[in-house]
Amino acid sequence: MNLLLRLLYLVKILIDMVNKVYSKYKKNEIINKVILNSTVTKMDVYAPYIAKKAEPGEFIILRVNEDGERIPLTIAGYDREEGYISIIFQIVGSTTMLLNQLNVGDCILDFVGPLGKKTETEGLKKVAVVGGGVGCAIAYPVTKKLHDNGCVVHSVIGFRNKDLVILEKEFSEASDKLCLMTDDGSYGDKGLVTSALEKLINEGNQYDEVIAIGPLPMMKFVCLLTKKYNIKTIVSMNPIMVDGTGMCGACRLTVGGKIKFACIDGPEFDGFEVDFDEMISRSKSYSEFETRSREKTCNLFQKKVN
Ligand code: FAD
Ligand code: FES
Ligand code: MG
Repeated sequence: MNLLLRLLYLVKILIDMVNKVYSKYKKNEIINKVILNSTVTKMDVYAPYIAKKAEPGEFIILRVNEDGERIPLTIAGYDREEGYISIIFQIVGSTTMLLNQLNVGDCILDFVGPLGKKTETEGLKKVAVVGGGVGCAIAYPVTKKLHDNGCVVHSVIGFRNKDLVILEKEFSEASDKLCLMTDDGSYGDKGLVTSALEKLINEGNQYDEVIAIGPLPMMKFVCLLTKKYNIKTIVSMNPIMVDGTGMCGACRLTVGGKIKFACIDGPEFDGFEVDFDEMISRSKSYSEFETRSREKTCNLFQKKVN
């Protein structure tokens, strides 16, 4: 028995080696890059071992180069056959700027995952998914999974203005009803996602659950609304992460009065239990460093252009 197991293990190593030699792409190679809007980019990255296991709700941690910091990004999609996973990121600071400088054929130095817990979708019959800005990239895979499983999905997605809209076609295909909101009314309906959600509830829609993913204040206000109607609400938390394995403590947050680590206990939590005010205040802890690093990276690119 022991010998048989060893033989099987050796065969697996041989298959992996052959796959590596004949693979079309290099490890962590960017095989597709699409600019979704002026600040949001989608990349498909060749990572067959992650693609094999990835599930909606999980994330990866990447490092662009040797001197780079580690940043988490949600797995926005995957193709198990082709062996790639998709990431959708907003260019907000130095690392996302550096990442956005990479092109098809370039490789990302480190790309680790899948990390975190997958979204629980079992038994759900009717769900409202609420996405805000780039949070829609995180909300889309679960929307698609729910829809593929036969669940009735009403999606409410919100953006500051028309130029920032992403994934409209994808959400429309994966939803039984789609409400698109912009703050300034330049596209879809004018207003906040909370007003569209409240309208749906008042029209008599009874949801098993609301899933809200976006900026912290948006998730906080969705929870305040759904609490009024007593609808279970799941939120996806995005604190600073470093190791992503529960060792460093950077991603701690308070849920139901207890300390949790978003990287291993989440990133999804019961929204009624999350201490949003603490999270909002903690999320500003490194803003001075982040601004300095962003300015340094911007200057670097400007020098390259000159
Ligand atoms: P910086 O200027 O360094 O930071 C800008 C802001 O990004 C900070 O104020 C902080 O709020 C956040 N941030 C910075 N460093 C980290 C870090 N190490 N970990 C977490 N947040 C950080 N963004 C997307 O655009 N798409 C996604 O799919 C996505 N998924 C995420 C999933 C998880 C589980 C988490 C925790 C965050 C996710 N984010 C996602 C946020 C993303 O990690 C940050 O935007 C990114 O780290 C910014 O790095 P920066 O150097 O470009 O910007
Ligand atoms: Fe270090 Fe979660 S990122 S404990
Ligand atoms: Mg940074």
